Amino acid sequence: MLAVLHASQLVTLAGPARARSGPELTELGIISDGGLLVENGRISRIGKSDEIAGLCRPQTEVIDAGGCVVMPGFVDAHTHFVFAGDRLDDFEARARGESYEQIARRGGGIRSTVAATRAVSEEELLVQAKKRAGWMLQNGTTTAEAKSGYGLTIEDELKILRVIRRIGAETPLQTVATFLGAHAIPDEFRHDSASYVSQIIEQMLPRVAREELAEYCDVFCEHGYFDIDQTRHVLKAAKQHGFKLRMHVDQLTNGGGARLAAELNAATADHLEQTDADGIAALATSQVQPVLLPGSVYALGAKKYPNARTMIDAGLAVILATDFNPGSSPTAAMPMIISLAVTQMKMSPAEAISATTINAAASLNRATEIGSLDPGKRANFLICDCRDYRELAYWFGFSLVREVFVAGKQVTNFAG
Ligand code: NIG
Ligand code: FE
Repeated sequence: MLAVLHASQLVTLAGPARARSGPELTELGIISDGGLLVENGRISRIGKSDEIAGLCRPQTEVIDAGGCVVMPGFVDAHTHFVFAGDRLDDFEARARGESYEQIARRGGGIRSTVAATRAVSEEELLVQAKKRAGWMLQNGTTTAEAKSGYGLTIEDELKILRVIRRIGAETPLQTVATFLGAHAIPDEFRHDSASYVSQIIEQMLPRVAREELAEYCDVFCEHGYFDIDQTRHVLKAAKQHGFKLRMHVDQLTNGGGARLAAELNAATADHLEQTDADGIAALATSQVQPVLLPGSVYALGAKKYPNARTMIDAGLAVILATDFNPGSSPTAAMPMIISLAVTQMKMSPAEAISATTINAAASLNRATEIGSLDPGKRANFLICDCRDYRELAYWFGFSLVREVFVAGKQVTNFAG
């Protein structure tokens, strides 16, 4: 048994095991001088410190949180952290004024990471991914969704998905896998995207489903990548194989992707920087959860952040995630995303906390397991070096996360 006592604020997010919207987003269930009890890796009680102290037995390990904020581990609902190499040349070219699209057209971008990822073995890919899993844990992420999409052949996509599974098994970071074979048109299909779409549908989806390597299927629906019809085609087939859907939509151009997400009843529609009022209304009709990724707007040096306030006003259960990837969002840090959400998107600190914990968990179908400090849930929690949860959004550029616990065990070796 483990007890944590004397949190200045125990940020529980206690409440229904589902996504929160509207005013619920600001209800963090804070217990001042709070504590919690962990048994068998799960939270068994939350309450005031004196109440929790009264339940301790002689053999209970007691941790004094020393007047710090204690909160649930972050759930990062959109990442592409399994890839080889980096995109330092693209990064420097953007600083010289080239755009993400221009770099992609001349062979940089996603396709250059595909070449690097194809060239390494599963073991080498795992070594690189473990280092990044360590970065995520260190910044307070205890569960991460992770997408394939840098292989674009059956074998290379399976290789990435196996690494995602192994990260979940061999490190404290819990992973949820998404198949993103439709991330870009690979070079060998450059002039025949229709054949690549057929290959995804006829060969990749059945194989990924048979090997149970992913729960979700995603498509990069964007001009120059996969158009609306191709996206619909892939995702309808994915549904028939039992995958749930997440989608990259309206990132660089407004191509009507939000409306398609609503039509297909996707779990999430992600990015949404260019989505108009009609698109937001469509999402609201189908209760699709928006996943907002301000890290990619920031790192691309763009100005247009997604319209979080309109989405919240429309009753949508917004999520914030890193989009951790080598091209458009090289960050593992949820605290940085929270800072951007508050300063650039005018979300309140409380809304940003809900959007990075319980709402993200709900979008991954894990709201009964993680995302809040409710009795019965996995004891994934953080001790942060601050007294008030708003400090997590206020101080920026470094992490206040001091200690990370996964299933009641302190994570010490962040690289697994
Ligand atoms: O979410 N938009 C597509 N995929 C990533 C970028 C991936 C990359 O540039 O490598 C994103 O921004
Ligand atoms: Fe992405």
